[in-house]
Order: sequence, then structure tokens, then C-alpha cells
Amino acid sequence: MWIHCILTKAEKFGKERILPACFVCGILADKTSLNNKTDMAYTPFTPLQQLIIERIQREGPLTFAEYMRMALYEPNYGYYMTGSTRIGFEGADFFTSTDVSATLFANCLGRQLHQWWEKLGYRTPFVILEQGAGRGNLARGIQEWAAQQDTGFQAALVYRLEDIGRGQDAFLAEKSDANAEPVPFVILSNELVDAFPVHIVEAHDARLYEIYVDVEAGRLREVRGEPSTAEVAAYLDTYHIPWTLFGDGWRAEINLAALRWIRRTAHLLRRGYILAIDYGDKARALYTRYRRHGTLACYFQHQLNERPLARPGEQDITAHVNFSALINEGRLQGLRLHKYTTQRLWLESLGIHEELERRRLSDFAESVTARASDRGQVALLQWYDLRQRAAALTDPNGMGNFKVLILRRN
Ligand SMILES: C[S@@+](CC[C@H](N)C(=O)[O-])C[C@H]1O[C@@H](n2cnc3c(N)ncnc32)[C@H](O)[C@@H]1O
Repeated sequence: MWIHCILTKAEKFGKERILPACFVCGILADKTSLNNKTDMAYTPFTPLQQLIIERIQREGPLTFAEYMRMALYEPNYGYYMTGSTRIGFEGADFFTSTDVSATLFANCLGRQLHQWWEKLGYRTPFVILEQGAGRGNLARGIQEWAAQQDTGFQAALVYRLEDIGRGQDAFLAEKSDANAEPVPFVILSNELVDAFPVHIVEAHDARLYEIYVDVEAGRLREVRGEPSTAEVAAYLDTYHIPWTLFGDGWRAEINLAALRWIRRTAHLLRRGYILAIDYGDKARALYTRYRRHGTLACYFQHQLNERPLARPGEQDITAHVNFSALINEGRLQGLRLHKYTTQRLWLESLGIHEELERRRLSDFAESVTARASDRGQVALLQWYDLRQRAAALTDPNGMGNFKVLILRRN
């Protein structure tokens, strides 16, 4: 999810924590709330909060991952299940690359898919599966690009969309849709994996604890306990993270659902590519002593907060993606690492700047030839707008630092 408050997302560039401030609106997050471990400020309860409290009273504390699963995916109540997922600018909680420019982003992806279509021998149907497709903007943009550029490609293209909001869960391993549908040659997602529920671990006295959600005086609060599974306990060691040296209170998120997702997704692919775009890093860059509080972030009406226990079901909750985990698990599933790069370099390799120049000369020619006229002025402003959108998509301190992972099966 991308919101105004990009500085916090760019925490990785700084030491420790940069006080979250928005590069667009300059709003500072309320620092006093950042470490507030008990949700005391929000009344009345959301219906989902009530449901969670009752479950904890019945069954005992939940892992944070189970809490997050309920907050995002609980049928009828979860943030992604109620249609309240608000993506975009006005009245939304966050925006994505397709909101910044559906055409520039989709056109680059269109060129990428076209290259793969050629490489795979012009297969028909050329099935693309987009997971976590949201409003389908990317699919529309790619289909429009195909219609303009190559009608043969357009005719071959079969574009399937899945989203949890439509009941299609991208990490349910039980699904056997590989047999039910034509097999995809490309499975892609933009900002999907960051939404999967994460476990949270915290170091104390060189021991690793897990964070659970409990109820105290009728309110949700965090408590520490032993790791819920051996997999959680061993996760950081798998990536050789020297977490025992990071001091008391150091935190990290562990996304086991991402492993399940890549296993299932790899299973769906017989030949072709998996492309995942998201914010995050390789493990050694993600889990550092400087990022003491982890990367968990909540989004509500374009404001970043770090109060995941507030408003369950009404705000988005995300965490940066550990790309090493996807690469390693992909390899175990027989996939090869094709490319791991930044969104900036990936878009540049797919000609975003050349497209910009072409469009300046074609769509906005009047900004040069008739600059003194009203039409010339409008063209100039529209050109500035498009140029700004390309800059946002490739900004090395913002979306340009998103990672693009491409795995392939030959
Ligand atoms: C940040 S939005 C991105 C939407 C779109 N890809 C874009 O770039 O605009 C995340 C999307 O992933 C969907 N989603 C979250 N978890 C999912 C899951 N487990 N399976 C399928 N879709 C999921 C949400 O419903 C939401 O539409």
C-alpha cells in the first residue's frame, strides 16, 4: 500500500526510526502513539473487535498473525472482505502504482508480457493470472495497451483476475484450480504479499518471544509469549540474521503465509513466469539492528499509524516483504530466479522514459508548438502531470525502491 506518508516506508534508508512525516502533506505521525501497546483510545468497538475479544475470552490469546488474519480476512468483517478496501486518492486509505499512472505502469507491464509471449513461442491462449487484482485497473491498462500495439497479442491474451474480495484467496494451498482453468503462463501481483498476516517476534535477553493479542479490562492488548511454532522460532536463523545482537525490544515480522503463497503459486505454473512487485527487501537488508520496530504499518484515510489493534476491519495492516523467503521457497518448488530488481530499474528497462518522450511529442505537442494558446497551456500542464507521475513511479526514495521479483519455470 502506498500512502502519502512515504518517509516511514523509507525507514530503511535511515538509522533507527525516522519520525513519520508525509512527503506530500507534511503531516507528522503522533509519535506518542507509536509504541502504545494497548488500544485504549478507540471507542466504540468495531463489531469485529467485539468478535475478536469474545474469541480470546473463549480460547485464550491469539498470535498476532491470527489477529491480523481476522482483521483483514474474517468473512463479513475483515478489511478486505467488506468492500471497504479503499484504494486510490479521494476518500481512500492508500494508493498504488496503478493509481499514480495506470497507463505508464500498465504499458511497461504490457511490454514485459509481450516479450515473454515471444519467448514462450506465441502461445494461444496466453493466460495471465493476476492475484490481488483489486479494482482491475492493471488488467484494463494491459488489455488497452495490447489492443493498440499488437492485435495478435491481444487476441492471444486471456487475462484472469483473482482477489480475496471476490472470494479468491491467493494463498489457500487446498485450491485445485490448476485443473479447472487453463494453465497460466504468467502469474503476477502488485502489492499483494505485504497484506498477508504476519507473526511478530521480539528479542529479550538474547531469547526470541512471540507477540500475542490478549484482552485486558475489556480491551485488546499485546502480550509476549513463547514462539507459537518451531517454524516461527527458527525463521530468522534460516536467513542467518544475528538477532541476538540487536538488543532487547528488537522486533520483526515473520510472513509464513508468503511461503504458503509461493508454494501454491509455483504449483499453478507449469511453464512461464511469476512476477511479484512489493515493498520489502532481501532478509539481510530487512532484518537489521537499525530497524528496531519492524515494518508493520496501518493505513487509514491516507494516514499512517502503528496501532494495529485499533479499528480491526476498518484499516489496512501491512508489513514489508522478505524477498529472500520467496526466492528460497521458489527454488525449492523448482523455480529459478530470473530477476530481482527495483521498480525504478525495471520500469526503465521496459522503456518508461522512452514512452514519456514519445508521448511528449505526440500527445502534448501543442505544449511546444502552441505554447501561448490556451490549448498549449493545458497541454503543458498535462505533460507536467504525466512527467510527475513517471517520477513518482521511479522515485528511488519511494515507489522506485519497491522490489520486482521474477521467478521462472523453464
Ligand atoms: C494494495 S491492494 C493492491 C491492489 C492492486 N493489485 C493494485 O495494485 O492496485 C491489495 C489487494 O490484494 C487483495 N488481497 C489481499 N489479500 C489477498 C489474498 N490472500 N488473496 C487474494 N487477494 C488478496 C486485496 O483485496 C486488495 O485488492
